[in-house]
Amino acid sequence: MPTEKNNLYFVYLANKLSLINQFLSFPNPSVGAVSVSKNQILSTGITGLNGSPHAEYESIKNTKNKKVEKLYVSLIPCAHKGKNPSCTKIIKKKKIKKVIYSFDDYDVRVINRAKYDLKKNKITISKISINNPCFNEIKNYNYSKKNELPYITAKLAISSDYFAKNKNKKYFTNKKALKFAHLVRYKNDSILVGKNTFEDDLPLLNCRIKGIKKKNKIFLINQKLKFSKNAYKHLAKIKPYIFHSSRNNHLIKKIKLYCNLIYIPCGLNKNIDTKLICKKIFKLNCRKLLIEGGLKTQELFLKNNLLNEFLIVKSDKKFSKKGMIKALKLFKNLKTKFKSEKPFRLDDNNIFRYFS
Ligand SMILES: NC(=O)c1ccc[n+]([C@@H]2O[C@H](COP(=O)([O-])OP(=O)(O)OC[C@H]3O[C@@H](n4cnc5c(N)ncnc54)[C@H](OP(=O)(O)O)[C@@H]3O)[C@@H](O)[C@H]2O)c1
Repeated sequence: MPTEKNNLYFVYLANKLSLINQFLSFPNPSVGAVSVSKNQILSTGITGLNGSPHAEYESIKNTKNKKVEKLYVSLIPCAHKGKNPSCTKIIKKKKIKKVIYSFDDYDVRVINRAKYDLKKNKITISKISINNPCFNEIKNYNYSKKNELPYITAKLAISSDYFAKNKNKKYFTNKKALKFAHLVRYKNDSILVGKNTFEDDLPLLNCRIKGIKKKNKIFLINQKLKFSKNAYKHLAKIKPYIFHSSRNNHLIKKIKLYCNLIYIPCGLNKNIDTKLICKKIFKLNCRKLLIEGGLKTQELFLKNNLLNEFLIVKSDKKFSKKGMIKALKLFKNLKTKFKSEKPFRLDDNNIFRYFS
């Protein structure tokens, strides 16, 4: 007999699977499904790119002629036929007797219809919730779809005395944390940095994981389009999209040769409206944006409630007099306004994960 422990394993697996195509399955939410019999996984399924096929269909199809006792899904199955067949109908056809799901759809009509359809066919449906915000695809999906904004993660490395910059060292987190940073880049489809970060660090902003080729769109905010000589060379190398509010035709003409310029008029507070920036990024088909700094840029996005997630990589080392740019206020803000997960440790670095 399946134990509760096994149940939870399958529930987590379905939810983990849902993250694979997260934000890539528009116009449908990204779902994970696991077909189980006698406590054994028969097959798994995820929502395909651009929403087809549905995860339930994929998982059930892959079981071929085998009997499926239970279907675990991250999201309540759909009961309507659209571009894809109705999942409740497929479940009924396959004679599955039990459906276990974790998250409800944001549309109450979808929930009611699914429950009605399944119960009518004597299929039990039960909910096992997962209290981990990173799995709440439907909340993120709905937020993103309704507001036409990408899901935004910010990431900042700090010392144990809360400095975000060291006078002498460019990298101050350990090797494992650096690998983690590249994994975070891989999980996003776009990266944004502020003017000072671009000028000071000349970052490549690519995903350096052996065997993986990932090209993210790069965004930069530089209101006046003023760059140093080195930064000009770097612009030509990484060809970012630049948000600006400059009217200097000479500069525009020059930079336009190798970069995409996006003009946004300056707001009342003399900054470019960060929400408008996010909307433009969404329009360019980016669904997962990573803001890699610096602190000023991240604080502006945080102030406007645009951040969904914040990753802090905190080193055990103190910078003392070598420290520059203090992030203590931001850290305190996150602690009070965001939910947090238990930090995980990578040798002498701690990774803190916050969710809005
Ligand atoms: N520890 C880490 O993880 C980490 C990560 C990245 C960078 N860094 C370090 O942090 C330093 C830079 O950080 P920072 O906080 O000084 O600068 P930053 O955030 O990189 O850039 C801030 C500047 O970008 C422009 N900007 C950003 N958002 C804007 C908006 N909405 N509208 C108009 N302009 C906007 C403004 O330029 P104007 O003032 O000219 O208008 C602002 O002063 C770098 O030296 C880098 O080494 C550390």
